[in-house]
Amino acid sequence: MRQSPLVVVANRLPIDDSMAPDGAFEWRRSPGGLVSALHPLLRHTPAAWVGWAGGTGPAPDLPDVDGVRMHGVPLTAEDLRDHYEGFANSTLWPLYHDAVEQPEHHRRWWEAYQRVNQRFAEAAAAAAEPGGLVWVQDYHLQLVPGLLRKLRPDLRIGFFLHVPFPPPELFMQLPRRAELLGGMLGADLIGFQRAQAAHNFAQLVAKVLGLPATDRSISVGEREVRVGAFPIAVDTAEVAALAADPGVAERARRLRQDLGDPERVILSVDRMDYTKGIEQRLKAYRELLASGDVKVQDTVLIQVAVRSRDRVAQNQILRDRVEHQVGRINGEFGRVGEPAIHYLSQPFDRTELVALYRVADVMAVTPLRDGMNLVAKEYVATRVDDTGALLLSEFAGAAAELEQAYLVNPHDLEGLKQGLLAALRATPEDVATRMRGMREHLRGNDIHAWARSYLSALDVAGSLPGRLTATG
Ligand code: ADP
Ligand code: F6P
Repeated sequence: MRQSPLVVVANRLPIDDSMAPDGAFEWRRSPGGLVSALHPLLRHTPAAWVGWAGGTGPAPDLPDVDGVRMHGVPLTAEDLRDHYEGFANSTLWPLYHDAVEQPEHHRRWWEAYQRVNQRFAEAAAAAAEPGGLVWVQDYHLQLVPGLLRKLRPDLRIGFFLHVPFPPPELFMQLPRRAELLGGMLGADLIGFQRAQAAHNFAQLVAKVLGLPATDRSISVGEREVRVGAFPIAVDTAEVAALAADPGVAERARRLRQDLGDPERVILSVDRMDYTKGIEQRLKAYRELLASGDVKVQDTVLIQVAVRSRDRVAQNQILRDRVEHQVGRINGEFGRVGEPAIHYLSQPFDRTELVALYRVADVMAVTPLRDGMNLVAKEYVATRVDDTGALLLSEFAGAAAELEQAYLVNPHDLEGLKQGLLAALRATPEDVATRMRGMREHLRGNDIHAWARSYLSALDVAGSLPGRLTATG
């Protein structure tokens, strides 16, 4: 196997296989924040990406994607059930998101998590050139840094967690908490989305492992592990350029026409996941329709909720409930040719998503808890004329940066309704002032700045391919 100077290791590869209309398989970019952030960053660098291609059975032979080498890691049906759907998405995911659903604990899931992390560590060890950098991503692979260090002590190892890292009282519920913390400590640098997460981690390491720890650094024997907050971002210039493209503008105009040229368009774009607050938002919307504060004659809501982790029971239940809710609201308030809600569960390509963002007068992003939420940042980046109001949950990582959004607590139904009305009724001047400030922030804090700050903290910026760490 050819080896690379930079290897990204993530549970999922940036491409998914899907069936083309002629029956052949084609590859398309997989939806999700991690891929949206890292894929544009690595393009045309001599990097490799180690991950799962979806499905079960042997890993397929994969083409390079934009010059990046793809290494598939195979998962069996049992791995999928016990590692991905089990420990990753039914133990860690709910626990890390404030336990908004009950985390489950099963010994079989932990065994699968260890086994699959070992497989990823071996694949990364084979893909990295001597002295190279391996950048491990997210909660599915928390043991990989420690396992990889044993296999390849010559490597620099970074770890970045895309989701929240919970306070000690929640993390302490995990039966194998010490092993999970120890696994992460195999890295040279552990990055989080927010300073609070780094603080939670340091507290836990001191309490569970008895190691000397501050929010910036932890001593592990002879080694020093650095810790820090690196809020992830989008490729602001690229998204803005797409938004300014005449073809996208024309598509947005057509979409608005197809919607019946309403006065106001509200948009939400989520993976179908119980952390995203979809039910709460629809409930608030129904009450606004019932009270007459919002009328279908002049306002339309588009809810995009792409199917995600379909076999996780809580997501199945959520999908049934959301689809029932949408049907009920359309039945009660819709009129012939004028549904109250346009509900779309398909994956879209980037151009179509950006056209949707361009149509939205109000973007409602109201998760109950979210590590960052890149949809909010993508929306802001597309508002090149400083129009558009962002309604944003205080519990999204993005709220720490996009303070000029209309901020709401999604658990507070009345507050959610008032926030939505405030965003719908805001003056163009207020909207423009807020949007200008948020766009300015995203111009200076894009995905390239994120990579530079992480890689210089890891002290490898100088030794990596120029495009990844170049300024400007
Ligand atoms: P998460 O990491 O939980 O998936 P984020 O909001 O950070 O949430 O990222 C979601 C990413 O997935 C965004 O980049 C968004 O553009 C993309 N996405 C969301 N819905 C779709 C869809 N229907 N089709 C294609 N991409 C989507
Ligand atoms: O950000 C959280 C995350 O798990 C990412 O790792 C991933 O991009 C996204 O959600 C989508 O999830 P999945 O890979 O399970 O479809």
